[in-house]
Amino acid sequence: MGGLTHLIVLVSMFAAITLISEAQYLIPVTKHEPTKQYYATVNIGFGGMSSPVNLLLDLETNLTWLNCRKIRLLSSLHVVTCKSSTCKSLPGNGCDRTNACLYTQPGPLGQNPVGRVAQDNATIFTTQVGKPISIAPSRRFTFSCAVEKYLQGLAPRVAGVLALSPGEFPFWRQIASAYNVIPKFALCLPSSGLGLGSFYIGTHSFGGSKPVPMTLTPLKIDSGKYIISFTSIHVDGVPLALEPSLLEGGAKLSTVVTYTLLQTDIYNALAQSFTLKAKKIEMSETQGHAPFKHCFEEGASGKNMDVSVMEIGLPGNGKEVKWRFQGANMVERVSETVICLAFVDGGSKPNESMVIGTHQLENYLIEFDLSTTRIAFSDPLVLHNVSCSKSS
Ligand SMILES: *[C@@H]1O[C@H](CO)[C@@H](O)[C@H](O)[C@H]1NC(C)=O
Ligand SMILES: *[C@@H]1O[C@H](CO)[C@@H](O)[C@H](O)[C@H]1NC(C)=O
Ligand SMILES: *[C@@H]1O[C@H](CO)[C@@H](O)[C@H](O)[C@H]1NC(C)=O
Ligand SMILES: *[C@@H]1O[C@H](CO)[C@@H](O)[C@H](O)[C@H]1NC(C)=O
Repeated sequence: MGGLTHLIVLVSMFAAITLISEAQYLIPVTKHEPTKQYYATVNIGFGGMSSPVNLLLDLETNLTWLNCRKIRLLSSLHVVTCKSSTCKSLPGNGCDRTNACLYTQPGPLGQNPVGRVAQDNATIFTTQVGKPISIAPSRRFTFSCAVEKYLQGLAPRVAGVLALSPGEFPFWRQIASAYNVIPKFALCLPSSGLGLGSFYIGTHSFGGSKPVPMTLTPLKIDSGKYIISFTSIHVDGVPLALEPSLLEGGAKLSTVVTYTLLQTDIYNALAQSFTLKAKKIEMSETQGHAPFKHCFEEGASGKNMDVSVMEIGLPGNGKEVKWRFQGANMVERVSETVICLAFVDGGSKPNESMVIGTHQLENYLIEFDLSTTRIAFSDPLVLHNVSCSKSS
């Protein structure tokens, strides 16, 4: 009898653990085509009465901020006071005349939003392996309320910025800790506004029973940015001749920069190799098309986005690993017959030698694992006949 009870207790404990470890916290990601901004929709407020709020994804924002007027029902929203431990633990906090905790931070588009810190419940979707999407119980979420003027420059449907930084209070970390899941998240950015991409918190389930191969490289966290060191750049298998000192600044990942910025000498070396290849396949160089400097008339080559393959060499597990970019991640079509090299000259002395932007990150699964301080990137998904877009 006692043995049977024990067994039942053990079995149900095991079932509960399985449930937690297989839980997936998945939020849809949308591309707003005209501005090429990426946003996720977070439901803020009480369960059935929660309001969906679209928030720009930003890997450098430390605390989510939004126009709190978008929250329809304010009954569960409460302002954090200056004296609270939450306020005291926020770096750069302040206090206003009403004793509300204030937070200021540089915004991704040059704004400096100041806002009162608030808490409300947020509800997100959960998917479990082999089960339909369900709603996870809502959890308290801390953010700041910024007034409307700070929304300037954001896509019309976007009402704030979702913090994804490596800091202490980004959205993903709050959610991972509320649901007690491993502190990591993954992004799959769609290339068009038609399908939905994915933002996973905790372990991702991308690919289901057919996972795509992922490659690991160490992550460096520097002043609240995600940086990877790179050791070489190959174009069509040939290394670019680059001064080693040019690589020292590393590569930053960004979800708000559209086209990858390269230090001038790196840009010129890439553009030279790319131009040689384009001419070889009978494309002819035509005038630049801002922000691009190198554009090509497709001519006899026909519709062809496959010019060069670029590989960035990164430290792996004891040997160099390569992140491969090709096809639509390398070029942008600017007219029926003209394509441009989709990289931008970032100046001769930028803070980072490379800022990897969203055009290059589209249709890759990228995992930011803060439990091991590593980044995992997939093969180009096109090689596996999949993409980040799921039709809604
Ligand atoms: C709001 O979040 C708290 C703490 O995370 C939780 O205990 C509570 O049940 C949530 N409220 C609702 C209505 O879901
Ligand atoms: C985020 O926090 C880090 C670490 O405290 C800080 O270095 C960085 O400047 C902050 N970033 C922003 C955009 O406020
Ligand atoms: C470099 O970083 C500093 C401090 O974060 C910033 O003020 C400056 O604008 C950055 N420069 C470039 C070229 O991004
Ligand atoms: C992708 O599809 C193509 C053509 O439909 C096929 O030849 C190729 O084997 C597929 N690749 C994978 C990895 O499934």
